[in-house]
Amino acid sequence: MSPTPPDGAPLPPAIEVAALRRTYDVKPRPVVALDGVDLEVAPGEFFGLLGPNGAGKTTLIKILTTLLLPSAGTARIFGFDVATDTRRIRRIMNMVAGGEQSGYGILTVREQLWMFSQFYGLGTREGWRRVDALVEAVGLGEQRLQRVSTLSTGQRQKMNMARGLLNDPWILFLDEPTLGLDVSAARSIREQVLAWKAEIPGRTVLLTTHYMAEADELCERIAIVDRGRILAIGTPAELKRRVQRDSIFRLAVDRLDGGPAALARLPGVVSAALASDHAPDAQHVAVNLVLREDAALGGVVTALARMGSQIRSLGKSEPTLEDVFVALVGRGLADEADDTAPLPPSEADDDLAAAHAPSHDAEAGR
Ligand SMILES: Nc1ncnc2c1ncn2[C@@H]1O[C@H](COP(=O)(O)OP(=O)(O)OP(=O)(O)O)[C@@H](O)[C@H]1O
Ligand SMILES: [Mg+2]
Repeated sequence: MSPTPPDGAPLPPAIEVAALRRTYDVKPRPVVALDGVDLEVAPGEFFGLLGPNGAGKTTLIKILTTLLLPSAGTARIFGFDVATDTRRIRRIMNMVAGGEQSGYGILTVREQLWMFSQFYGLGTREGWRRVDALVEAVGLGEQRLQRVSTLSTGQRQKMNMARGLLNDPWILFLDEPTLGLDVSAARSIREQVLAWKAEIPGRTVLLTTHYMAEADELCERIAIVDRGRILAIGTPAELKRRVQRDSIFRLAVDRLDGGPAALARLPGVVSAALASDHAPDAQHVAVNLVLREDAALGGVVTALARMGSQIRSLGKSEPTLEDVFVALVGRGLADEADDTAPLPPSEADDDLAAAHAPSHDAEAGR
């Protein structure tokens, strides 16, 4: 099934969320899990949600997959309202969460998936056909007659991926799909998702993950969320530029007479310092160079030639998504959400102050 309206009309946004709020009525006081979220994801986008524990990511996914109703605001999936068009939405979406235990241990992989195919309304023969194709596609061919209870964590997650693709969704919600997987199993899950998405234009993915490199690799745009709000939206490159005003280069030369200080004096050079991971016995000198702008690099290269230093390597160092996350959220991803944690000092940095205005960012990210 392709996410194309039969009459050729333009597709509505895959996800359209406006002023979304969700509170949980628990003692001693209600928890505000989503505190006014606005978000639009286009058909065909690979979109990521990053945020610390308790930020509200799973709550948002539960609302978008019709498992939970909003307290206020609206959310639509391909134009269908999550509050009223539940059945239509369930037909065109699916969800895979990390650490899912779902399944009946005594069934085989094939039987378990076939059972789900029947829940999804596929006929008997079509069900078996799709199950067998997906079992192969996710790399579970050898385990297809094995009992679900005996699968390893990575194998179980591959089975969950197959389950998530059984109903041929337009949009796939992945809530920490590689949680607890080893490097190769996680890569295999990522490759399956990318391959599935590439098959038909318009297929859309919303991913949450605590693995920054995974988000960086997969996502075309990312929203950083905390305490039920979106702090920033943009492509990974746009988000990284928020923490980078200067140009950072990593330079290796065969020798550097006068040390990094000789470079620090050059025009346009903000700082030059030995790289922190520089090995004292290395056959070269590694320097981290911070320039006022990229154009200052020419002067550095000329000066190095004059000083008789040969360049072994020279590359621009990019800040990582983790740098962005820490700058925006004010604490590392692994840290628990903590009501007493101070907010990041917004006045210290205009970019970051702007990042705290969700409506501003929603526009900036378009
Ligand atoms: N059923 C519930 N009852 C009460 N509070 C809840 C419930 N589900 C979630 N919460 C609270 O809502 C907030 C958001 O939780 P949510 O699970 O959406 O966060 P998350 O971003 O998915 O976090 P994580 O990265 O740990 O998965 C948290 O403070 C959480 O304790
Ligand atoms: Mg969660």
